[in-house]
Amino acid sequence: MPLVNFPEGFLWGAATSSYQIEGAWNEDGKGESVWDHFSHLPYRVQNGDTGDIACDHYHRMPQDIKLMKDLGLQGYRFSVAWPRIQPDGRGPANQKGLDFYKRLVDQLLESGIQANCTLEHWDIPQALQNAGGWPNRDTVEYFADYARIMFDHLGDRVAKWTTHNEPGVTSFLGYSDGIFAPGVSSYPQAIQTAHHLLLSHGKVVQIFRQGGYKGEIGIALSVSDVMPASNCEADIQAARRFKEANMDIFSEPIFKGRYPKDIMEWLKPITPGIQDGDMEIIQTPIDFVGLNYYFSQVAAFGKDGGILKMKLHQDSHPLWGKTEMGWDVKPEGLYNVIMEFKKRYNNPKIYITENGAAVIDTPDKTGYVKDFDRISYIRAHLLEISRAIQDGANLQGYYVWSLFDNFEWSSGYAPRFGIVRVDFETQERITKLSGKWYSEVIAKNALSE
Ligand code: FCB
Repeated sequence: MPLVNFPEGFLWGAATSSYQIEGAWNEDGKGESVWDHFSHLPYRVQNGDTGDIACDHYHRMPQDIKLMKDLGLQGYRFSVAWPRIQPDGRGPANQKGLDFYKRLVDQLLESGIQANCTLEHWDIPQALQNAGGWPNRDTVEYFADYARIMFDHLGDRVAKWTTHNEPGVTSFLGYSDGIFAPGVSSYPQAIQTAHHLLLSHGKVVQIFRQGGYKGEIGIALSVSDVMPASNCEADIQAARRFKEANMDIFSEPIFKGRYPKDIMEWLKPITPGIQDGDMEIIQTPIDFVGLNYYFSQVAAFGKDGGILKMKLHQDSHPLWGKTEMGWDVKPEGLYNVIMEFKKRYNNPKIYITENGAAVIDTPDKTGYVKDFDRISYIRAHLLEISRAIQDGANLQGYYVWSLFDNFEWSSGYAPRFGIVRVDFETQERITKLSGKWYSEVIAKNALSE
């Protein structure tokens, strides 16, 4: 007996990103990306790991798509490595790079799998970073040119386009905390980055509309449920600041054409350079919003809490521990976030573009992993998604993060997120128990007891 049925047409998928799986970092005319550059520096990534080889997907793509088909995936969310297309971020396209993604999309379609193509999942050309990166307004135009190339080549066969993946992570982990590429530590640069990511997003949506390409377009935002540490006003305000400065700073401009007022007031000395007309471009209507959800957070007032005067605390539901990333688990936080988008932004079409967990995988002698913890995590979040749908959310699909164990950014290869195990010595892929379980969910379009 199914416990929960999902609506007919609900899209079941899996997600990856170029730098995390492709490898072949300098082949076939590809330029250096900010992540190539960053991971080759000492002490930036745990264990000195790099994405030079990763899952070697660039060379194993046909077999990987066969595996997706065997799993029964209906959608695959991947990203394009911009430096494969334009090695320096500008100028003519590199045919070999284009051909790779053309083959990828064609083989997906032949396998009956819908393509969701993310244009930017953090690995922008290093040459553009050398010229100032996202804080430089020129990058906006370069991104628009690159997007046009991709639309012209794949616009007739990609069902869903995602402009940026998690602009909040690029802005704040990349340009303020400096723990992700390009490793800059400057809050003003982070804020300028946020604005330029949004502006480039809007421009690309306009180009997409003007070109009359098929398919839908949206953006993937990182979201978490933020709670104040107590009922005291200082904590309530601190939680609001954190949420506004990290999440609403992206969603409000996109859906309402304005930055959250209170936080802009708070950050006044470092307001981004905004030109006339920018906010209208940013607000160009999108077809869907992608939400990437992993954890919830608790915020408290903190005198020493940096520019936001705020400190984050852990917030796991009592029955859950932490994942291997040290991230807290709170499935109902996903419900809360979805319902907030429904309420504040007029019930937009939502896809959960990422959700999943790194858990300690212990393979048996054959490499098989019985990852019950990952199954529990995904299942609990799917139940919350179903609850949100029943409560009227326009939520149309789910992409598990991730198809494969892969390069987890600054944490290297230690955390494993895949529903398919990758042996990084031999590149063997072995579907985990969670992969088999997910296949059954897809086949039944339901969660069983
Ligand atoms: C998200 C990223 C994705 C992956 C997961 C675990 O923030 O978009 O690439 O690293 O976290």
